[in-house]
Amino acid sequence: MILIYEATRAATYADLLKRLIPNSADYTLIPCNTREEAARAIGEADILFSWRFPPDLLPRARRLRWIQAMGAGVEDLVAAPVPEGVLVTRVEGLFGAAMSEYAFAHMLAHAQQLPRLYAAQAARRWEPFTAETLWGKRLGVAGVGSIGGAVAARGRAFGMEVWGLARTPGPRAHVDRMFTPAEADVFTAGVDYLVSTLPDTPETRGLIDPEAMKPGALLINVGRGATIDEGAILRAVRGGRIRAVLDVFAVEPLPADHPFWTEPGITVTPHLSGPSRPEEVAAYFAENLRRFEQGEPLRGAVDRERGY
Ligand code: GLV
Repeated sequence: MILIYEATRAATYADLLKRLIPNSADYTLIPCNTREEAARAIGEADILFSWRFPPDLLPRARRLRWIQAMGAGVEDLVAAPVPEGVLVTRVEGLFGAAMSEYAFAHMLAHAQQLPRLYAAQAARRWEPFTAETLWGKRLGVAGVGSIGGAVAARGRAFGMEVWGLARTPGPRAHVDRMFTPAEADVFTAGVDYLVSTLPDTPETRGLIDPEAMKPGALLINVGRGATIDEGAILRAVRGGRIRAVLDVFAVEPLPADHPFWTEPGITVTPHLSGPSRPEEVAAYFAENLRRFEQGEPLRGAVDRERGY
């Protein structure tokens, strides 16, 4: 039995899988939108295809052999009591295009001062100015996996010098200079635009210090909110040192009384930079299921030690 768990779209995923899995008649698909439904079904599940599954239900998953997460970040599953021997996979390679376009939309808006232009038009003010270019600037990409790699490639296309920060050393495509976590301070202080795609692991928390960024730089976080200290972001922005574009937060939804909402140097967006499109994610799962049946290595295998 395949338990499909997602807050609003579980039935959509089930319909897609019926079409995408060639031998779907061999499986019972159980879509669950709520914890109660999931609690009733988890004991019989062989496979879990889910997003933000209630972790406390996992010890009841006696038959479970594999969990496919519907997204890229799996810090919840890494911390969860996943029964021994259960494979965990995440979505890898689907979000780079959307997330890098998000990052570049905000980098270009910053360089071209779009809010200033919109305000001037609204006030019927004819106020020419010379915009900055991304060309010739230095882009830092923290986390050079499939998402960070897509950001780096586009940075190159814009004529930026690209720096990368990753857990493991060694050259990466479209990156001029690579840094390890031990060199994070040089990386952080050296870039004009810093895009973080870092997953939330004990190693990434606090790796980027916004107060050590180059004055005038722009910080964009599309990874996980917990990786960059929110108080440090506020201090760095309020002091006029940097501006920030944040799609992810330590607590989501961002509480209504959070100071980020009203801070002029901070753009808040509601965790939308890397949308999970059911057609794509279901097709990814169907291909992994084929591999699972054939005993082939799965795409997006999570290494619990590594944390993603
Ligand atoms: C969304 O944040 C994801 O990890 O897919």
